[in-house]
Amino acid sequence: MRKSAVPPEVLKARRRQLGALIPGCALVLPAWPEQYRNADMHYNYRPESNLYYLTGYDEPECCLVFRPGKTPETVMFVREKNVERETWDGFRFGVDGAKQVFGYDAVYPYSQFTKVAPELLRGCERIYYSMFRNREFDVLFGEAVMGISGWRPRYGMGLPPIEDANSVVGELRMRKDETEIEMMRKAALISAEAHIEMMKATKPGITERYLHGVFLKEIMERGATTEAYGGIVATGNNATTLHYRFNESTLESGQVLLSDCGAEYQWYSGDITRCWPVNGRFSTAHKRVYEKVLQLQKELIGMVKPGLPHMDLQKRAVEGSVEILLDEKILTGTVEENIKAAAHAPFYPHGVSHLLGLDTHDSGVLMVQGKSRPLEAGWALTIEPGLYFPANNSKVPDELKGLGIRIEDDILVTPEGNENMTRAVPKDAGEVEALVGANYK
Ligand code: GLY
Ligand code: MN
Ligand code: MN
Repeated sequence: MRKSAVPPEVLKARRRQLGALIPGCALVLPAWPEQYRNADMHYNYRPESNLYYLTGYDEPECCLVFRPGKTPETVMFVREKNVERETWDGFRFGVDGAKQVFGYDAVYPYSQFTKVAPELLRGCERIYYSMFRNREFDVLFGEAVMGISGWRPRYGMGLPPIEDANSVVGELRMRKDETEIEMMRKAALISAEAHIEMMKATKPGITERYLHGVFLKEIMERGATTEAYGGIVATGNNATTLHYRFNESTLESGQVLLSDCGAEYQWYSGDITRCWPVNGRFSTAHKRVYEKVLQLQKELIGMVKPGLPHMDLQKRAVEGSVEILLDEKILTGTVEENIKAAAHAPFYPHGVSHLLGLDTHDSGVLMVQGKSRPLEAGWALTIEPGLYFPANNSKVPDELKGLGIRIEDDILVTPEGNENMTRAVPKDAGEVEALVGANYK
């Protein structure tokens, strides 16, 4: 029998916290639909993050109905055991296994959802459900809700209101518990160690794809299931495309390579960006800009502590980027004028930080009524300033044309300040240079 990667009592504690946020209500969370091509060629399944967070269940075709304070409280609908399908696709927990391993209060076959769910949802004040994530299930959900509507109009109440489940589960997912922090540290460490191996394997003449392969090999050897997102391995001017994904160019001496790759470990994301010179030595101009971005990144990490409005990171990143662009004489005028005119945007067009967790761009609302929320201990976020100098931009001096620099670490907010979970991969220019090509020395 397979096991739950997350202890059932931890899952129960998460549901208890959720229950306190939605008393009298119900939450319905279905799995993602499975991915097929040509009808029968299927691809690795990835659980839906909110559902996994609350149930630990990683099979497709399942659904949670959670009714805080009621009996049964945690009800799961799961795929049944099926000897033939298990011969083709492998183990299934089935109804009994799900109950035994995960300790849910009641478990039904998935096929019985529309029959059983109306009774479970009857009398709840509100239903939390996210539309359009699993369109086939949206129809089943609609049927279940209509199943309770028959009696409600007689009391003049109509259908219960439906609200986005992500708003409440996302709120919980912002504060990582100890189990999550352990998994995130591992995802971060694996991603960091794999970056070191990429640096060591770099030399002119190899391809971006080869280095991406080094990353995949190294993370999977260390227990990752796969990468957290399509890895970006971009040399020279390719690095000025933020989400460059072709990974098909050959590395040339004199270029700087940017790698933005992350491992997925127990469904948790690492998300690291590092830049290094293909031939092991930054040019004077490349090094000058690299070190300015690095200094800004370190300053931003230093700001991370409970109470800091998240938007302050972005404000400082924009200001710091403009200062560098002025220093490099790519912009003229004052810092304020340039910020007002968004003159930095062609060179720094993205946000400096996002939440990180089960999803690389993790759930959670960072602005409430137009105000940026202050950071809290237990949040995990990235810090990733960057500057990009496309070869075809006439404002860019020749010595910087075709350079993209982004430096990204994964930061846990702690009661005292922060912990850099990706600190294992060097970023000081000299240390990076010493690693590049080490496999061939
Ligand atoms: N790798 C995606 C990001 O940094 O947001
Ligand atoms: Mn990121
Ligand atoms: Mn990234």
